[in-house]
Amino acid sequence: MSKITIQDLLKKKSEQQKITMLTAYDYPFARIIDEAGIDAIIVGDSVAMVVQGLENTLPVTMGEMIYHTKIVSRAVNKAMVIGDLPYMSYQVSIEEAVRNAGRFLKEGGASGVKIEGGAEVADHIRALTKADIPVMAHIGLTPQSIHRMGGYKIQGRTEESAKRLIKEAHIAEDAGAFSVLLEAIPMELAQKITKDLKIPTIGIGAGPYCDGQVLVLHDVIGLFERFLPKFAKRYINMRDEALKAIKTFKEEVEKGIFPSDEHSFK
Ligand code: KIV
Repeated sequence: MSKITIQDLLKKKSEQQKITMLTAYDYPFARIIDEAGIDAIIVGDSVAMVVQGLENTLPVTMGEMIYHTKIVSRAVNKAMVIGDLPYMSYQVSIEEAVRNAGRFLKEGGASGVKIEGGAEVADHIRALTKADIPVMAHIGLTPQSIHRMGGYKIQGRTEESAKRLIKEAHIAEDAGAFSVLLEAIPMELAQKITKDLKIPTIGIGAGPYCDGQVLVLHDVIGLFERFLPKFAKRYINMRDEALKAIKTFKEEVEKGIFPSDEHSFK
């Protein structure tokens, strides 16, 4: 079975077929997502919050990102795997960016990387593309800029910032990005960017007009309890289901119901 490529994503845009993406960080969920036919898996630095229990995405390291990307790549047959460049893996120099992004392909088995930023990472996108590393740019709310932005806030609401985001999207495309992820921006702005660009836009909190949608898996399945962003939809509450199952196990052990003959050897 051949993997989804950036050409497949471009074709989907040109044929007005929606692109689907989810995050994943481990083998069992990556297998389920792949089996469901999702186009791409982003091994997001959101792993810091939804798996590692950290306050924000800043502390996750390159080593940890490669570890999770390897596991996800091992699980998938079809979905494209995209590694997320963590904070401080690309900001210091373009050389570091290329070396770290290359690790996602060489060690992690990914087919591309995601980088937060538009204009400020245009040279990075150019250098990565030159090194045959497909890049997805990520603009709008960029969680690695939490301290500069003063929290996780909707972007592009003023005329000036909307104009800046349109410009950033064009800059990313011109620099060679294969896609632009738009996070937490007004839907009309996302619609304009989507119409403007030849490359696909993938929205998260950017409304229905993007070429595709991505969500953080743990929001979708109800495994992240700290908060649910307005733009995320919980399709199942797996935390409650797991809690019920674990409580039942505890009760059955305490009452001598488990293990029964069925789960014992003679
Ligand atoms: O880290 C992450 O999960 C992300 C999502 C927006 C894909 O960047």
